[in-house]
Amino acid sequence: MNILVVGGAGYIGSHICKALKEAGFFPIVFDNLSNGHSWAVKWGPMIQGDLADPAALDKAFKTYQPQGVIHLASSIDCRESMLKPDKYFQNNVEGTRYLLEAMVRHQVHQIVFSSTAAVYGHPHQTPISEDQPCQPINVYGKTKWLAEEMLEDYFAAHQLRSVCLRYFNAAGADESGQIGEAHTPETHLIPLAILAALGKNSSFKVFGTDHPTADGTPIRDFVHVSDLAEAHVLALRWLLNGGTKIALNLGSGKGYSLREVLAVIEEKIGPVPYEVIERNPSDPPVLVADISAANKILNWTPRKSDLATIISSAVEWHRKQ
Ligand SMILES: NC(=O)c1ccc[n+]([C@@H]2O[C@H](COP(=O)([O-])OP(=O)(O)OC[C@H]3O[C@@H](n4cnc5c(N)ncnc54)[C@H](O)[C@@H]3O)[C@@H](O)[C@H]2O)c1
Repeated sequence: MNILVVGGAGYIGSHICKALKEAGFFPIVFDNLSNGHSWAVKWGPMIQGDLADPAALDKAFKTYQPQGVIHLASSIDCRESMLKPDKYFQNNVEGTRYLLEAMVRHQVHQIVFSSTAAVYGHPHQTPISEDQPCQPINVYGKTKWLAEEMLEDYFAAHQLRSVCLRYFNAAGADESGQIGEAHTPETHLIPLAILAALGKNSSFKVFGTDHPTADGTPIRDFVHVSDLAEAHVLALRWLLNGGTKIALNLGSGKGYSLREVLAVIEEKIGPVPYEVIERNPSDPPVLVADISAANKILNWTPRKSDLATIISSAVEWHRKQ
């Protein structure tokens, strides 16, 4: 069964393509390579194209007649989104609308959408469950929330069924060493700290040590990218079995402070050179997922998302780059 993986040449998308192939699906990547890599497309063909190009989308749907879509393509940097809102509304909201319209034209009614914990903004309580209000505090989170809302409306109008997967912090790399995290520029905490420890980046920036947490650094929930990939296969099966519409958190369900993360990296590699800069007052101090709904509905349990496994796999990957 052909599945169109939009943004499949990126970090998470490439791991999903591998998981799809192993589960008996045939992944077809659609990607403009703005932040992805042709070397990461190993489990099926790629059409190089942009979401905003209906002709390129039509070609992909006509040629491969996919039964479902996994949509990861977006601009992904929260900080940049505050400076360039136009880019984020255009790519993440308008881009998603182009894709949904192509799905309607080609009568494909099932989509798994990459959403984010950023849709919650400041959580009302932790761990965060899906019934908490969505009040995003940055443009990136707003665009993902608008895309989720759009899916609601396309369900009502066109019976387009969807699973929105709200990832917390994706990290780690595939155990084969063939694929891993390779963003340009890199903005994520674990790869930046590892690159600093390996001497491949000059220093790591710690945004404040005065957060209201036990050690003063923010607490985040890290989920192994291979666990995320497995959840997409399960979400796709849920839709293929008649599931209608749902949003689910994907995390490990555990929180680690930045100091705890740095301690594990230092154990594996050595000192992480860092500088402390001012805290962004809007940064939530604690973001941890309640993952019981994904467990119940998809029967998903993260198996590789302990900090030691995540960091070992990421270190192996970054050593070889
Ligand atoms: N990395 C994380 O921790 C994290 C957390 C929460 C949510 N997400 C979401 O997961 C998805 C994947 O994230 P990632 O870390 O793999 O990012 P990534 O940048 O590695 O992957 C995104 C891919 O989409 C492609 N793309 C972007 N705009 C496109 C367009 N207009 N047309 C075609 N292709 C386009 C890029 O070239 C890239 O290959 C994103 O939607 C992101 O918002 C990621």
